[in-house]
Amino acid sequence: MSYNNILIETENFISTLTINRPKKLNALNRETLEEIHQAFVKLEKDEDTKVIIITGSGEKAFVAGADISEFANYSVEEGKDLAARGHQEVFDFIANFKKPVIAAVNGFALGGGLELAMAAHFRIASDNAKLGLPETSLGVIPGYGGTQRLPQLVGKGRAMEMIMTASMIDANQALQYNLVNHVTTVEDLMSLAEKLAGKILRNSTVAIAQAIEAVNANYEDGVNGFEKEIEGFGKSFGTEDFKEGTTAFLEKRKAEFPGA
Ligand code: COA
Repeated sequence: MSYNNILIETENFISTLTINRPKKLNALNRETLEEIHQAFVKLEKDEDTKVIIITGSGEKAFVAGADISEFANYSVEEGKDLAARGHQEVFDFIANFKKPVIAAVNGFALGGGLELAMAAHFRIASDNAKLGLPETSLGVIPGYGGTQRLPQLVGKGRAMEMIMTASMIDANQALQYNLVNHVTTVEDLMSLAEKLAGKILRNSTVAIAQAIEAVNANYEDGVNGFEKEIEGFGKSFGTEDFKEGTTAFLEKRKAEFPGA
């Protein structure tokens, strides 16, 4: 399948999804969001994909936000629908994806761009990155999960400050805030992402999928995360991966996980 606004490359079980509208700083218009959704639906079933890295095209931006030119004339209902669809098809879809998703933030990650990075399971950044939720400067609030995921990652006070001031933080401050896990140079960003993906690939994809579900349960209303963990832990005992992982350890060899 060919896309107009994103690129997908798969190598060694790692798929890199690049948002590719560099002239618009990779802003998320409707078509791009639709393509991201379609791509993730495909990646879910793709046996050659075990880890996904999301990044932006060019050195200037990861994603500079939702495409402002598209929603400037929206009504109340259209605005609500835009956010609801975005949650369902892209942001929650990625957050709950069963395969690990890493955001490699290579420049501006603003508004919907930071929300996309926050929907990923974790984030790394290049030292030129600038992150923020500038929506209140446009008279709107973050609509793709920013009011929920930013406080989860950086704490309520810092999130409130970032949202109210609409200001950007740099990569090192993002590291200090736990918004990103690692900061490196622009040149080394993708190799660091691939190195982390490589470490993930050594482990059981089945167990990782269960772990993602259990960790996410902590952030879902009405779901008991501890119960989810107990359930997932128990399920692990019925998998081929568990048999292989424990047997390999006892036989003092590297595990070769059969996967799902
Ligand atoms: N939506 C639509 N277009 C966007 C965009 C967005 N979120 N962010 C950048 N662009 C476009 C610009 O309009 C410009 O297009 P043009 O060349 O056709 O005029 C192009 O991308 C380059 O951006 P420009 O503003 O010229 O780059 P800059 O280096 O001067 O500034 C930013 C970079 C990121 C500070 C600035 O583009 C910006 O503030 N963008 C909006 C960020 C935002 O508010 N995002 C949240 C949206 S909810």
